Amino acid sequence: MATITRSTAFLALAVVVLAIVGGTTAQQLSPNFYSKTCPKLSTIVRLGMAAAVRKEKRMGASILRMFFHDCFVNGCDGSILLDDMPSFTGEKGAGPNFMSVRGYEVIDAIKAQVEASCKATVSCADIVALAARDGVNLLGGPTWSVPLGRKDSRTASQSAANSNLPGPGSSLATLIAMFGSKNLSPRDMTALSGAHTIGRTQCQFFRGRIYTERNINGTFARLRRRGCPRSGGDSLLAPFDVQTPDGFDNAYYQNLVAQEGLLHSDQELFNGGSQDALVTQYSNNATQFSGDFVAAMIKMGNLRPSPGTPTEVRLNCRKVN
Ligand code: HEM
Ligand SMILES: *[C@@H]1O[C@H](CO)[C@@H](O)[C@H](O)[C@H]1NC(C)=O
Ligand SMILES: *[C@@H]1O[C@H](CO)[C@@H](O)[C@H](O)[C@H]1NC(C)=O
Repeated sequence: MATITRSTAFLALAVVVLAIVGGTTAQQLSPNFYSKTCPKLSTIVRLGMAAAVRKEKRMGASILRMFFHDCFVNGCDGSILLDDMPSFTGEKGAGPNFMSVRGYEVIDAIKAQVEASCKATVSCADIVALAARDGVNLLGGPTWSVPLGRKDSRTASQSAANSNLPGPGSSLATLIAMFGSKNLSPRDMTALSGAHTIGRTQCQFFRGRIYTERNINGTFARLRRRGCPRSGGDSLLAPFDVQTPDGFDNAYYQNLVAQEGLLHSDQELFNGGSQDALVTQYSNNATQFSGDFVAAMIKMGNLRPSPGTPTEVRLNCRKVN
């Protein structure tokens, strides 16, 4: 017995040592991660986001989307922020991001303030996570404590950004599968899609829906066609939510029930499929939506780079150290 126990203990120790040496133990994230090393962090990020949103409300939405696009590509590791380098092509030029994801300069400005207060301490990935939370809250949505302690990647993957992010023409089955591959449930997917209660989208992404689809309110389709011609005007913008375009509420789901989802992928959540009942619930119960959205944001924020990936705390979010 004693030998078995001792060899078991040794084995356990060896596993732990190997894991640490190999760098495969990702530390659990914690809201208090920087409470000693950067006590003013949340205030600095909040003030930076407040200034950005004061200048342009849409920025709250843009940073929320940046966080999603960071997390879905090798985990929330700030990889989306890296400019192209001689050694790799960055994610900024990937289809879902190019001329679409915005707000990089807002993160740069916040990072500069954070560095001035706590040098070489806070990852860019954590700054994006906090900034996304503040963007939601500044536009009238919930707030929550963000688990922290992420590290920044030393590389980026344009091909992963191209293949891991869902497109606006996605079917419900594709959406469920793509979120499922990130261990996010259909319910998480439907709650996270409520992010489309804020922000804008380009004509090129909803043209097909407003000119050819039949599960769309006619008045709404006519309104959107006025700002999005059959050809040309690809980058003309429309708000996802007509009534409260810059208000984080459950109007997204009310729109879906009224067949006023703007993207094909939006309306897929309420088109006779498995998410209809949940969409109806969220449309009637803002509290339920809010609670599920926060839970799903924390879950998405826990996506980590694959074990063994080299990481660091980047000094400039656009470049590896
Ligand atoms: C479910 C699959 C999703 C698809 C297919 C999708 C697709 C899109 C597309 C095509 C746009 C417009 C981009 C442009 O016009 O340049 C957009 C905007 C946006 N997305 Fe999503 N998205 C999805 C999920 C999410 C999630 C999970 C979040 C965040 C939690 C999110 C947050 C946003 C926000 C806030 C905007 C507006 C950004 C702005 O105004 O700058 N999306 N999305
Ligand atoms: C479409 O939306 C308009 C304006 O919100 C509404 O008056 C109308 O009843 C809707 N049409 C249908 C068929 O639901
Ligand atoms: C709304 O959802 C919350 C949270 O799930 C629940 O406690 C509450 O009873 C619901 N309210 C209504 C009116 O259904």
